[in-house]
Amino acid sequence: MTEALLSNVPSPDRVCSALRQQIVRFRFSLRPVSVGTVTEVGDGIARISGLHDIMVGEMVEFEDETLGMALNLEAESVGVIVLGSDERIHEGSTVRSLGQIAAVPVGDELLGRVVDALGRPLDRKGPLHTNRTRPVERAAPGIIERQPIRVPLHTGIKAVDALVPIGRGQRELIIGDRQTGKTTLAVDAILNQTADDVLCIYVAIGQKLASVAQVVHVLERHGVLERTVVVVADAGVPAALQYLAPYAGCAIGEEFMEHGRDVLIVYDDLTKHAWAYRQISLLLRRPPGREAFPGDIFYLHARLLERAGRLGEAYGGGSMTALPIIETQMGDLAAYIPTNVISITDGQIFLEQDLFHAGVRPAINVGLSVSRVAGAAQTPAMRTVAGRLRLEMAQYRELATFAQFGTELDRNTRAALDRGARILEVLKQDRHHPVSIEEQIALFFAVTQGFLDDIPIERISEFERQFSAFLQERQGLRNAIAIQQELTPELEALLSESIHEFKESYLTLDA
Ligand SMILES: Nc1ncnc2c1ncn2[C@@H]1O[C@H](COP(=O)(O)OP(=O)(O)OP(=O)(O)O)[C@@H](O)[C@H]1O
Ligand SMILES: [Mg+2]
Repeated sequence: MTEALLSNVPSPDRVCSALRQQIVRFRFSLRPVSVGTVTEVGDGIARISGLHDIMVGEMVEFEDETLGMALNLEAESVGVIVLGSDERIHEGSTVRSLGQIAAVPVGDELLGRVVDALGRPLDRKGPLHTNRTRPVERAAPGIIERQPIRVPLHTGIKAVDALVPIGRGQRELIIGDRQTGKTTLAVDAILNQTADDVLCIYVAIGQKLASVAQVVHVLERHGVLERTVVVVADAGVPAALQYLAPYAGCAIGEEFMEHGRDVLIVYDDLTKHAWAYRQISLLLRRPPGREAFPGDIFYLHARLLERAGRLGEAYGGGSMTALPIIETQMGDLAAYIPTNVISITDGQIFLEQDLFHAGVRPAINVGLSVSRVAGAAQTPAMRTVAGRLRLEMAQYRELATFAQFGTELDRNTRAALDRGARILEVLKQDRHHPVSIEEQIALFFAVTQGFLDDIPIERISEFERQFSAFLQERQGLRNAIAIQQELTPELEALLSESIHEFKESYLTLDA
């Protein structure tokens, strides 16, 4: 037994030669690192002395391997935000600068994953197999690299695609009080991206983990998680990570965009992002301004949203569409952060609490919502039917004000009011039920041409359901709408004929 073991032991000569080889191959390299000392720590902020040649945004590593990011460079010290728990960091402990600014892993491996603001996996799907990284902060593409926004990004939400259309590369703000369906609207837009070749990124900032889990669950159930990256900095993590999260998500999106892909990114929400930044700034003793926000609060969101856009063909032709979300207090659009972000974006979708409670969902206030790209981001057929829809709605709103007074109404006014009420009904939509653009065109055509005038309001949603099933069977009709970019007289005739046919079967079914 002992002999057998001994026979496996290498001879001293072999050990010596192996060691000698190792020593010969050993290369000694010196890399200068600057090392500093923590002079003060607390509330997620550390003050460090001795780091003289550090850059703004550069990463540092504390003794316990917690990372930090240098934000304030002062004469005697550096103010660092701690990207983790500061419990094991003490006065006097050493800090190493890493010589690079914060970066996140990027690439296709991130699709289907839930990661934190530094790109570390939060799901149970194992480590990320990517060695490519990108700095989280980067200058936005310049004017030469961009091209105008002309390709529509269909959200599958009828009211949005018809009245506030979004183009690929656009920045459209979703704004409203709490619990008005902001997250649902953005998530529904992601759900609709299965058909088109758009990759999605959902950045959750300062939210409850339970809410984020619910969103991930919805994405998974609808089969879109595998084309989505979820970046989470929930309410429980340090403000520093909440501050970093949207830039990290943006960097992940940029990588896709520069490879010619179309990306949709949702920042949910930038109000909490601004709060996190205010907290950091106050702790770093930066001078507070209006509402105690620091002076560069506008730049905080401008530099983030400027990174969205559509690149020219010579630069890959990809795009990044941004849907930032802002929460208002009592519908106040004129507050500091809302006005800032409104001025940075290319339009806003305003969700109103009163409408939401009245059962108008999505609760879009059509009067206060705009898309500055508008018609350029619609297919010609959609533009035509949406134009009619908008006209009838404007008429309806005007007449509805008069009708409130209970005056006797003539037949034409009555008819316009009835039509308007039906349009409003058609624009309602249940959550997580995207409607294809072909179906939307057929439906808007039907309602504006008066095909729904004899359907009682309370039966419209049922009519719509059956009409949708009918269209599902008519592959030919759907193809005709999809292929015909314009609403040609032939297409109109085909649509009218089909709707007639459907109504006959629908009404007989009814009787
Ligand atoms: N179109 C809709 N149809 C039916 N229910 C909806 C619709 N949109 C939103 N809801 C419901 O309303 C509630 C609030 O929606 P959501 O969480 O999207 O609002 P929010 O504005 O993001 O809220 P918060 O301010 O808490 O972030 C949810 O329960 C959601 O399911
Ligand atoms: Mg929400």
